[in-house]
Order: sequence, then structure tokens, then C-alpha cells
Amino acid sequence: MSRFPMPALTRRAFLASAAAGAMLPFRQSPAGAAAIREVRLRAAPGGIRLLPRPAGEVAAWCYNGTVPGPEIRVRQGERLRVEVENGLAEETTVHWHGVRVPHAMDGVPHLTQKPIGAGGRFVYEFEAVDAGTFWYHPHQRSFEQVGRGLYGPLIVEEPEPVRVDREVTWVLGDWRLTKSGAISEDFGNRHDIHHNGRVGNTVTINGRVPDTFAVRTGERIRLRLINAANARIFSPDFAGHEPVAIALDGQPVAPHAPAGGRVVLGPAMRADLILDMTGKPGSRVSISDRFYEGLGYKLVELVYDDTPLRERAPDWPLALPANSLPEPDLETASRNEVVFAGGMMGEMVAQDMGESMGPVAPGGMMRDMNSMMGMMQAMNSSTAWFINGVAADEASHDMKPALTLERNKSHVIAMANATAWHHPIHLHGHSFRVISRNGQPTRNREWQDTVLISPREKVEIAFVADNSGDWMFHCHVLEHQAGGMMAVFRVA
Ligand code: C2O
Ligand code: CU
Repeated sequence: MSRFPMPALTRRAFLASAAAGAMLPFRQSPAGAAAIREVRLRAAPGGIRLLPRPAGEVAAWCYNGTVPGPEIRVRQGERLRVEVENGLAEETTVHWHGVRVPHAMDGVPHLTQKPIGAGGRFVYEFEAVDAGTFWYHPHQRSFEQVGRGLYGPLIVEEPEPVRVDREVTWVLGDWRLTKSGAISEDFGNRHDIHHNGRVGNTVTINGRVPDTFAVRTGERIRLRLINAANARIFSPDFAGHEPVAIALDGQPVAPHAPAGGRVVLGPAMRADLILDMTGKPGSRVSISDRFYEGLGYKLVELVYDDTPLRERAPDWPLALPANSLPEPDLETASRNEVVFAGGMMGEMVAQDMGESMGPVAPGGMMRDMNSMMGMMQAMNSSTAWFINGVAADEASHDMKPALTLERNKSHVIAMANATAWHHPIHLHGHSFRVISRNGQPTRNREWQDTVLISPREKVEIAFVADNSGDWMFHCHVLEHQAGGMMAVFRVA
């Protein structure tokens, strides 16, 4: 059992939260100061019920004994104070993915803090500047720590949220289970590193293999989707329902129907969808996901109640109030080129695209070595991926900045994916606008913190570098990150 059955610190807060239902505790600070919400998270091994009975519990790593960890909810503008206790037998940290926190609170080992040793503690505290759907996870050996279940949702509520009947969070997880139902121990194996990461065989919603999800005709749901998988890309098909995206990566976007009715969420990405339940009372509708060709599966089944909630969908407004993000000025922005290279079959793509892997890329050897030998060599190395020719070595703890960005200035990062694989590219400390794909301006100029880049695709992002420090910039396929696909951007 967790020593902290509830993420509560004070008795008063506990009572208040018990009275208010399942809300997290809340402590009023001295007059004038922002309200502080206090939470305790304990990372430790635990048993979870992933599969329906009679299957037994699965040994996983949990925050406060559950996967996902507790849903932390704060109001925009409040401060969040999280005391993390490390009950693992190894070092850890917690990163607040997508939240624009001060550098020292970003949870990156050796870059923003000393890792939290086994049995150690660390207190994170920051203001929830942006409303939206965020999440938290370790940044220490993430490919294993996240893959064993360490992740949880962090919801920052708007002062005036859009009107819906029900708000639902789905943390999407993906597990590689063995025949006996245990988590496969092959974390960080070379094949995963060099291909599309640890794509598993068991998909969960909120830590459970889902069966059905009860809805009512006429109901309006705000569905917060969070992709917490190491490597799996999700693209749920709501079969006849027409979801409207109102936020991506937590940041409001002009309400729009995603292409083909399907959002595509790479690892770490989020989407807030408005779903009007337009099915018939008593009907059942399967939500499936066919992102990977030939590997489609049923995610969950919507089960309509026999009694409708209302005759037709409500016509309540959909748009969320914008967060106050500094607007990049493209006229004065610096322009920075970033090329991603490596991985199996990457050499071919890089040559086609006229991109070089850079002078120090061992992949350069492959050019001259007629494939098989070179591929074998690359396969036997755990560095597989290159950002502007450099594969990061996480163990060295000494990453030179790949780019230095002038503080409070606008910057464009023009990225080219010269590989045969998808990469969800994440920048810490900032949100950025996705301004173009393959030279075409994007329709919504969406704010994101993680952008999914398809094989051979070119994507431009723009932002104001207003948060000083050395920030991680990496692929969120956690095996790619472990295989060198990360860099540091310095804002100074
Ligand atoms: Cu979600 Cu660098 O991480
Ligand atoms: Cu990647």
C-alpha cells in the first residue's frame, strides 16, 4: 500500500476535499498570494489491475499506487506544490509535460536538477500559467520508468470552462505484456531503439483494458485525450460521431473537425475534443484505431443508455479563451535548421531528401559500406538517431547546446525528418506555433509543445524564447530519445 493513500497534505484540506467529492486538496494562502494546491506523489512499485478478472494484478511502477497516477487539477493562476518521494530502487525526477515552468522545476536530471535518489524527496512548485490538459512523468530513464506505468494527468482548469454535460480524461497507455501477462522486461532493446520504439500489445484507457463506456443520446462530453505511451501513435475513429478539437497539447485552437474526424496523437500529445453523442438510445458503437496499417483494433465500445438526455446536440459555444502566449514575430525571427536522421532505412531517406547526417554521424559510414554491414554496425550500437549530426549521450550529463536562442526574441525552427519513421518532437519550457508543413502554412497555426513529424516531412515552428535556461528538445518516442534523439536549446 502507498503511504499516501490520498495526495493530501493537510487534514483541513483532506476534509474540504472529502466534502467536495474527489477533488484534490486546496489550501488558501495568506491574502494576496496565489492559492497553493499541495499534492504528494510517491513513485514506487505496485500492483495494478490492467486486465479484467480473472487475470491477476500486474507488477508495475506507480504514483500513489495507481496507473495513471492521481489526476492533479488546479485552477489557472494557482500555484502547485508537489512533494515527490522516490520509493523506487533507482533515481527519478518528475517532468510537467507542456507546463511552462521555471527551469529549476522542469525535472530534467543533470540539466535542471540532481536526480532524486532512491528514498529521496524533491519539492516542485510552480504557477499554472496556462489552462489546459497536461501530464507528468519521470525524465530519468523514461523509456523504462514511463513504460512501467509512471505517468499521470495534470489538468489546469479555465476560470470559465466551455459548457459541457461531462468532462472525461482518457490517459492512453500501451503495454508490452508477455504471455503470462507480466510487463515484458526488454526495455530499451536495440530493435525498439532503431525502429519505431516500444510499441506494445495491450492498450489501456486510464490504466485498464477498456470494455465499454456509457453515454447518453444528446450528451456533450469534453474528452481530454493524453497519449502517455512510450511509442504508440493513437488515432481513434469515433465512428459516425464528429469530434471537434478545441485544444491541442493543452492550448486552445480554433474549434475544428480534425481531418477525417480523427486526431493523430503521437506520444506525449494531447487533444481536447468536444463529442456530441449523436447515436440512438440503446445502441452500441465501437471506437477503433487503425493508425498502423493492418494493426487496427477496437479501443472501446460506446454503450448508449435507453433514455436520451436530450433530443439533439446542444448549441453551446465551443471556443476556449486563449492562454497568454507571446506571439512570435516572423519578420524578425531568427531561422534555425534542424535535421533528424538515423534509424533503420534512414540513410536512404536522408539521401533522397538531400540531407546529410552530419560529419560525426556513424551513419555516415553506412553510405560507403553497402547497407548490410553498416546496418549491422548501427544495430549493435545504442546510438541510433541524430539531431544535426549529433547523437546525444544521456550518460555523459554534459550536453552542449545545439542552438542558442536570444531571450525574448522570436525564433523559427525549420525541422526536416530525414528518417523513415514518425517522430513526436517536444520542446521544454515553451509552447510553439506550428506554422507550416512541407512549405504549406497550417490552417490553425496551432500551439503545441510536441509536434508529430511524418517520415520525410518538413515542419516549421515559431515561438518567443521567453523562458531562460537550457531546455530539452527531443523525440518523445522514448526509445528514440534513449538512442540519441535529443538536444539542448539554450535560451539566454
Ligand atoms: Cu514529456 Cu522531455 O518530456
Ligand atoms: Cu523519434
